[in-house]
Amino acid sequence: MAVALTPPNVPGRAGELLAALGDRAELHDVYDEVGSPIYHDFSVTDTHEVRELVGLVRRTPGAVLELAAGSGRLTLPLLALGRQVTALELSDGMLRLLDERLAQARGGLRERCVPVRADMSSFALGRRFEVIVLGTTSVSLLDEKGRAGLYAAVREHLAPGGRFLLSTADIVPSPAPGPDAGETAAEAEVEVEAVIDAVGVSGRVYRMHDHWPAGSDTRTVTIFPATVGDEGPVTVCTTTVGVLPADRLETELAAAGLTVLSRHPLPGAGRYRDVLLEVGVTA
Ligand SMILES: C[S@@+](CC[C@H](N)C(=O)[O-])C[C@H]1O[C@@H](n2cnc3c(N)ncnc32)[C@H](O)[C@@H]1O
Repeated sequence: MAVALTPPNVPGRAGELLAALGDRAELHDVYDEVGSPIYHDFSVTDTHEVRELVGLVRRTPGAVLELAAGSGRLTLPLLALGRQVTALELSDGMLRLLDERLAQARGGLRERCVPVRADMSSFALGRRFEVIVLGTTSVSLLDEKGRAGLYAAVREHLAPGGRFLLSTADIVPSPAPGPDAGETAAEAEVEVEAVIDAVGVSGRVYRMHDHWPAGSDTRTVTIFPATVGDEGPVTVCTTTVGVLPADRLETELAAAGLTVLSRHPLPGAGRYRDVLLEVGVTA
């Protein structure tokens, strides 16, 4: 039997499915012009970490800088606190979606939001903020050099006594797989690649493959439509992100002159436990 070649950068079962689609597959980055509306569709109603983040922001009055703001899943609740929010984002597609949402928002939210197109690993906004937010474990989108740039920029932009609030995905230790654990090959494969169905606000259903071999410092997320039919183009979106346990992040922050003041575990199940860190500048 011929084995389909796994396209570059998409490992595992998702890669096989992609190869099987052949030239029907139209592969995009999750945050590009085509991927952004898909990401927005299934994530916009997700309330994960919103309550915890808003609770921490409330404790520190003043202007907010939100990094990697996307289409505004966190931005709108932050604006609803009555704060000035600068929403920094790299993707034009995401910024367009954010603009559309702000245009529809009521209560003066649009007037208090300043969207900025910039790279969170290197930005200079010429002012300081009482609170800087980086949610949705998006710190893991940056490599080590990018994170060093991020920490330096955060220090430059944080007002005295200000707080940097960021989340990361901590790893849940699992028992070592193998014959002793009575585990089948299929079960082991499930552990490497979790498959989750998600319904978008449009009603479309997506199938998300999260490929993470235990111990790897990156994981690959690939999103297919839940049904692909027999013909016609199929849009598939993929992204490879880092896995950055909270202890390592805390060590990196300390080396950059930033101190973790408190850790807040976020609700959730599965292989990762997200945690929200409250960070200040080291005295
Ligand atoms: C996981 S999404 C989170 C978006 C939003 N915070 C949310 O909760 O839906 C990550 C976002 O980071 C953006 N992004 C990726 N790399 C970036 C960078 N270097 N600088 C700024 N934004 C970036 C992506 O375009 C995407 O919108």
